[in-house]
Amino acid sequence: MVEVSNLHKAFRAKKQSKQVLSGLSFTAEPGRIYGLLGPNGAGKTTTLRLISTLLKPDQGSIRIDGLDTVKESRAVRDKIGLLTGEMKLSGNLSSRESLRFFGELNHMRREYVDQRIDMISKKLGMDDYIDRPIDKLSSGMKQKTSIAVSIIHDPQVIIFDEPTSNLDILATKVVNDFLLDAKAEGKTVILSTHVLSEAEMLCDDIGILLDGILAVNGKKEDILATQESGRLDDVFFALAKERGIVS
Ligand SMILES: Nc1ncnc2c1ncn2[C@@H]1O[C@H](COP(=O)(O)OP(=O)(O)O)[C@@H](O)[C@H]1O
Ligand SMILES: [Mg+2]
Repeated sequence: MVEVSNLHKAFRAKKQSKQVLSGLSFTAEPGRIYGLLGPNGAGKTTTLRLISTLLKPDQGSIRIDGLDTVKESRAVRDKIGLLTGEMKLSGNLSSRESLRFFGELNHMRREYVDQRIDMISKKLGMDDYIDRPIDKLSSGMKQKTSIAVSIIHDPQVIIFDEPTSNLDILATKVVNDFLLDAKAEGKTVILSTHVLSEAEMLCDDIGILLDGILAVNGKKEDILATQESGRLDDVFFALAKERGIVS
């Protein structure tokens, strides 16, 4: 379980301070997928980096299975699997070698790592290229390798930042099915995306980030029921209208 409460974060650049998050609160539960939605620049990646201990909140707190992300960051890191676009894999190592390397970083036994690699490779359809150098892989293959790296230690909490951006339809389906399996296994999944159809299909709970706060937060069915059409794009449109972004 991930409990975010009253999160504030500002970035300072050239003597100016830009408030990105102003009092964000939500809970992501085991066996459910929480979708963090919002336009570019809304603060989705910042929120996921805060949850993953890569940033410290200015105010507020985050607990992961009861552990505080600032005071108990090491223990938190063992519990989470983070995928973001910032971590690009490259080089002469193969996917398998990279996975072994990250397994070692996570203090995993070699046999257990190899067992995990076989399982994940099958699940993500990586068997054909797992021993090829990463530099020779397509962007979709690289993305699947990054996903495999992020979950090599079998984390209880899965945090994926726009996992399917730049993927083709088939690879997108593999990744989305992977997330649904993780949910079925009782993992807590937090996903950011700006693809509304994907969120509508995958998520159990949804938060819409606008102007640094969650303009909407709750069960998907309840959120969709606020619109006659029952569609997420209309929920977005209504919010934008309320705020004078569109007329
Ligand atoms: N390290 C940083 N330093 C300064 N500004 C940042 C930093 N990271 C993000 N920002 C700013 O914070 C805002 C939110 O960014 P981000 O969390 O990446 O949004 P999203 O993922 O929703 O597109 C943007 O205005 C971005 O420019
Ligand atoms: Mg982002």
